[in-house]
Amino acid sequence: MFELNDLDIVVEDNLDFSNWRHDLRQGIEFRLKDGNRILIRSMILNDIPDIVDIEKMAFEDPWTEEAFIYDLFYPYKNLVVSGVISQKIVTYLLSIFVADELHLHNIAVHPDFQRKGIGDLMIWYMLNVALQEGSRTCYLEVRVSNKRAISLYKKFGFEIMGRRYNYYQNNNEDAFLMSKKDFPNLEN
Ligand SMILES: CC(C)(COP(=O)(O)OP(=O)(O)OC[C@H]1O[C@@H](n2cnc3c(N)ncnc32)[C@H](O)[C@@H]1OP(=O)(O)O)[C@@H](O)C(=O)NCCC(=O)NCCS
Repeated sequence: MFELNDLDIVVEDNLDFSNWRHDLRQGIEFRLKDGNRILIRSMILNDIPDIVDIEKMAFEDPWTEEAFIYDLFYPYKNLVVSGVISQKIVTYLLSIFVADELHLHNIAVHPDFQRKGIGDLMIWYMLNVALQEGSRTCYLEVRVSNKRAISLYKKFGFEIMGRRYNYYQNNNEDAFLMSKKDFPNLEN
């Protein structure tokens, strides 16, 4: 398992990633550094309206409802997760497995809940599932201007592998292609 190390997260339940699908269906509780409890669980269709609301706050070119539904019902192996505090969705993560790779497609935290360690928790959880599934590399794209997200990914050992020019259609911004290859070592 990737260790929690300096992440200010406490696992409330016994966590064994060999049963991650089952656990996610039940929901797993974590305690954040501010004392709030967050439930991480499988995303369901009913979550999508709240997720789209967060998406619009988080991104200048938000995904549509259809894009979320596509990844939610992706016909191959995926990891799609919602995070809930006091019955309110505050975060989500969508990723798919491709052979021995995990591709992170989307992650956001509600603006009112940022800077509490939730991004850390989501990436940490995703990497542990990837490790459990035998993934060797995790890939993602991020806007070159998105310093917060780049900092989050670097914290977990992601490196910039390349640049996709004019990747984002709304303003032709470039994307960094980032990857984390060195499973199972969590770099800090
Ligand atoms: C990126 C994002 C998911 C981080 O979520 P978060 O819950 O606020 O992050 P955390 O509190 O867990 O912080 C984890 C790390 O992220 C980075 N980070 C988060 N907010 C940051 C900020 N305002 N400035 C610089 N780094 C920041 C830091 O590396 C931080 O680690 P640290 O606390 O040890 O410095 C959140 O800012 C977000 O939803 N942004 C909009 C959506 C987005 O950009 N998604 C990524 C698309 S590729």
